[in-house]
Amino acid sequence: MSASDTRHRLVYTARLPEPIERELHERYDAIRIERADLARLDAGIEALVVMPSTPLRVTAIQSLPASIRIIASYSVGTDHIDLAAAAARGLPVTNTPDVLTDATADIAMLLILSACRQASRAERELRAGRWRGLSMADVPGIDLAGRSLGIFGFGRIGQATARRARAFGMRIVYHGPQRKPDAERALEARFEPDRKAFLQTIDVLSLHAPATAATRHFIDRETLALLRKGSVVVNTARGPLVDDAALIEALRSRHLHAAGLDVYDGEPAVNPGYLELDNVTLLPHIGSATIETRVAMGERVLANLAAYFAGQPLPNEVRLPGAPRTPE
Ligand code: 8YV
Repeated sequence: MSASDTRHRLVYTARLPEPIERELHERYDAIRIERADLARLDAGIEALVVMPSTPLRVTAIQSLPASIRIIASYSVGTDHIDLAAAAARGLPVTNTPDVLTDATADIAMLLILSACRQASRAERELRAGRWRGLSMADVPGIDLAGRSLGIFGFGRIGQATARRARAFGMRIVYHGPQRKPDAERALEARFEPDRKAFLQTIDVLSLHAPATAATRHFIDRETLALLRKGSVVVNTARGPLVDDAALIEALRSRHLHAAGLDVYDGEPAVNPGYLELDNVTLLPHIGSATIETRVAMGERVLANLAAYFAGQPLPNEVRLPGAPRTPE
C-alpha cells in the first residue's frame, strides 16, 4: 500500500475474484454489502463498487449519503445506473470497457454456433438417452459458411464477434446509429442504415447494442416478421432489447430456426416460455465470465478508484453527452 493512499471507505455489492477483493481490502476500508443495504449506507462511505445486478435508479442515487463521491461499475454496461441522477449529484460513474470484449465475443460466437447447430438440444438428447446412433435424415443443424451475420451495434464487442464469424466464412452486415468505416474495411462488412432492409437481408442476427429507450424491444413481433424463415437470433447484450413473448412465439412456430441467449429482461429470472423450447440455448449471463477477464475488469475498477482519489482524470468515466470530465 503506497504512502499516498488514505483509507478511503467504500462498499461493494458482490463477491469478487480473490486477487481483486484482496487488493481492494489492502487499499481501502472496504465492506461487502448486500444490495438491500444500499438504502442504509453509513455516512462516511466515499465510493460504491456495483455490478449490473445492483440497479441504481434515481431514488437510490438521491438517497445515497452525502459522503459518496464516485460510483465504479464492475461492468462495461451502465444501464443499471441512472447516469442523469448521478450527474445531478456530481457523482462520476466509471466502467470496465475493452478488457471483456474478447470473452463476450467468444460467448456470442458460441451461441451462434450452438443455435445454428442446435448443440444444446443435441446434448440434451444424448444425456436423456435418446441418441439412437447416426441419422442422415434427422439433421437439425445449418451451416454458418456463406450465411450473413447481422450485427446490431457495431461497437467493440460487435466488431470482435464479426471478426470471429468471418473465420467461419460468414458475411457481415451491420446496423446502428453510426457508420464505422475503418471497421467496415477491416472486416469487409456492409453498413445497412435501413432497419427493414437490414433485417430482411440477414440469416443470423447478433445483438450488441446498449439497453436504452431507443433499443428497447428491438426484437419484437414486427422485426421478427421481417427476418427470413429459418433465421437465428443471438443476444449477449441486454435482455430489454428483446420482447420475450414475441421471440418465444417465433421459436415455437419455427419461424426462427433457433436462438441463443446470455442475457434476460429481469434476470436472473428467465421467462419460463424459453425453458419449454428445444431450439434455444440459454446461458446465465457468462459473457465476461473468465477468470482472466473478471480480474482484468477488477483492475479497471481499481485503476478508476485510484485515479479518482489521486485527483487524476478517470481512465473510464461514463459521461452523458456534453457532461464535463472528472476532475473538471
Ligand atoms: C457483467 C456485463 O458485468 O460488463 C457488463 O456489462 O454485463 C458483464 O460483464 C458481469 O457479468 C458481472 O455481473
